[in-house]
Amino acid sequence: MRIIKTKNYDEMSKAAANIIAAQITLKPDSVMGFATGSTPIGTYAELIKKNQNGDIDFSNINTVNLDEYKDLPITHDQSYYYFMNDNLFNHVNIDKNNTNLPNGNAEDPDAECARYEALIKELGGIDMQLLGLGHNGHIGFNEPADEFKKCTHCVTLTERTIEANKRFFESADAVPRKALTMGIGTIMAAKKIVIVVSGEDKADALQKCITGPITPSVPGSILQLHPDVTVVCDEAAYSKLEA
Ligand code: F6R
Repeated sequence: MRIIKTKNYDEMSKAAANIIAAQITLKPDSVMGFATGSTPIGTYAELIKKNQNGDIDFSNINTVNLDEYKDLPITHDQSYYYFMNDNLFNHVNIDKNNTNLPNGNAEDPDAECARYEALIKELGGIDMQLLGLGHNGHIGFNEPADEFKKCTHCVTLTERTIEANKRFFESADAVPRKALTMGIGTIMAAKKIVIVVSGEDKADALQKCITGPITPSVPGSILQLHPDVTVVCDEAAYSKLEA
């Protein structure tokens, strides 16, 4: 694992955006795996600036997002579909036909998961997957479990995740209980992975992912086995890794 430690959130966002921009510059038709959540918002803001300055061109990329809430209308301002448009796609020269998320409103969620998995394969696999990290070590919505789930699947969110995500909803009760997420195998098949982690409240999870045992009870710990992972974190998130 390559670790880039930055002073603060802004520097983390710039560093992550530089890595993503380099990927798109070197391979303009990259398949980019994107994430939602608070952490990558700054990264997307930096990418928007680079696109508007003419420094990167999104017109030939395809995107696949990690996850989507189940049974939340895409027009809801907390759907990940809405998030991606609002925080990135509406502001760059991307062809929206080339942007993909799991359909959380599909009538048959299992069939939708299989469709999504097949789509990623059809696109030729993910060149670079951006991840955030949950407080409980989750990546995508792969929550702590007894086993690593391989493919895109439907998942029940843990209380810890509902608690963390309720800040975006009217109340904890309004947070969807289920989501569709890429599996650990889907994520691990990405050629490159970049994970952004910020804040002291993530320090414990980051330490477990980087130096702890590889276990499905800390899903992000599997990243230790991937050949090309870059962790971009700020000092606060890194604090428990200091010798
Ligand atoms: C988002 C996702 C989640 C988040 C994680 C951290 O698509 O899959 O794994 O990356 O919950 O979220 P934030 O950045 O809000 O702390």
